[in-house]
Amino acid sequence: MESHIQIFDTTLRDGEQTPGVNFTFDERLKIAKQLEKWGVDVIEAGFPASSSGSFKSVESIAKALTTTAVCGLARCKKSDIDAVYESTKLAAKPQVHVFIATSPIHLEHKLKMSQEEVLASIKEHVSYAKQFFEVVQFSPEDATRTEIPFLIDCVQTAIDAGATIINIPDTVGFSYPTEYEQIFKTLTKSIHSEQPIVFSAHCHDDLGMAVSNSLAAIEGGARRIEGTVNGIGERAGNAALEEVALALYVRRDHYGIESQIKLDETKKTSDLISRYAGIRVPRNKAIVGQNAFSHESGIHQDGVLKHRETYEIMTPQLVGVSTTELPLGKLSGKHAFAEKLKSLGYDISTEDQINLFKQFKEVADKKKSVSDRDIHAIIQGSEHEQRAIYQLENLQLQYVSKGLQSAVVVIKDKNGKTYQDSSIGTGSIVSIYNAVDRIFQRKTELIDYRIDSITEGADAQAEVHVSLIIEGTPVNGIGIDHDILQASCKAYIEAHAKYISETQKKEGIHS
Ligand code: KIV
Ligand code: ZN
Repeated sequence: MESHIQIFDTTLRDGEQTPGVNFTFDERLKIAKQLEKWGVDVIEAGFPASSSGSFKSVESIAKALTTTAVCGLARCKKSDIDAVYESTKLAAKPQVHVFIATSPIHLEHKLKMSQEEVLASIKEHVSYAKQFFEVVQFSPEDATRTEIPFLIDCVQTAIDAGATIINIPDTVGFSYPTEYEQIFKTLTKSIHSEQPIVFSAHCHDDLGMAVSNSLAAIEGGARRIEGTVNGIGERAGNAALEEVALALYVRRDHYGIESQIKLDETKKTSDLISRYAGIRVPRNKAIVGQNAFSHESGIHQDGVLKHRETYEIMTPQLVGVSTTELPLGKLSGKHAFAEKLKSLGYDISTEDQINLFKQFKEVADKKKSVSDRDIHAIIQGSEHEQRAIYQLENLQLQYVSKGLQSAVVVIKDKNGKTYQDSSIGTGSIVSIYNAVDRIFQRKTELIDYRIDSITEGADAQAEVHVSLIIEGTPVNGIGIDHDILQASCKAYIEAHAKYISETQKKEGIHS
């Protein structure tokens, strides 16, 4: 059996289905390039038939990547397969991923098709795709809730029509490890093929078992694992690929199988996705969380000081977390700053560095020493502002009486047009949010508000997270600033802006 495991990243397709996440064209390209650097074998770059934005983005990624295969998703529809072909034809290694649902619940309620019709559709569309692609992956959607005899028929039909990769999606995160492993064993035993067939696992995390199920699939014979960076995706998300990659490496004694992931690019990849998705990695998240390598209790600290391996099964350096940091200060110049950016893995144009250097100086004036986290925060804040459709231009607050505050908010859109309104409220935040609501004129409910400090010290940068329901759609926003009220206002504006792009995404108008 093959001792290489293929890593198939679907951050740009299934990951982008996370509510409130909408990567821009440039971000998708940057993510794809970083994923190639990280060493994934295949990138599912999008669903080209879904919108012209998705088509163009898959096309640009296909042209840009040189070693990683670029795959596009297609329903069992010739026009979808044509869109994948047209958008990936210039890729060094193009692939297509054709899917159709196979479970009784999907057939009856969603597709309204009989099993015979589904088999006929698989045959017709996989063989159609095979005319254009050497590598065709087929997925029976909701495979884990499909009766096994019918699942075998679907898989055999796809193989006979030319599929060489069979992906078994646990679409609703319903399966458990031993059951999922057994499905792979049963399929491997039951199918016939003259070509070698690679089985692939695609797990969702509804019951928190996506990574365990993916690893169980390997024991069952799977040699391709699908997932996303930081586990982002629909509902509870997909299998977190960084966790899969590290489990395979740290427990190589057990799995005996190698991925080509460059482990020391892991943290950088996770940070990039977190920034662009606007989703902060929880502190206790395995592998990439801020606490993943810190030891709090005295007993643990004592043990680690005596012998690191008493409480650490991997080093932070293994995943690219640097622990020996040289902080910058008030006297650091442009050159030292540029070197620091490089050492932290940023590739920033000289023009953008000028603006960042100014912001660094402002922070350095306030703080004795500027840590790596401060630098990340400066860049994060600046990237955030750059990609915002609306920017906060001015915010003024005034105490009215009896706890009432009044707020005046001025925002500016990408074309420089300004919008302004004012409102009162029982406290600063309420008055600011009422004023923003008056600008956007949408039915809005604030369901969560959280402040995190992203740097150390009393003058730390604040990161405010808000979750809103706007006209029935859940959206998140993040605002970063030294001033909590400004950060709160920026987060709220960003959530409104995301609602607007989310609506455009649904209507197929991509930026
Ligand atoms: O979860 C799922 O079933 C999918 C398919 C499109 C493969 O994402
Ligand atoms: Zn999925």
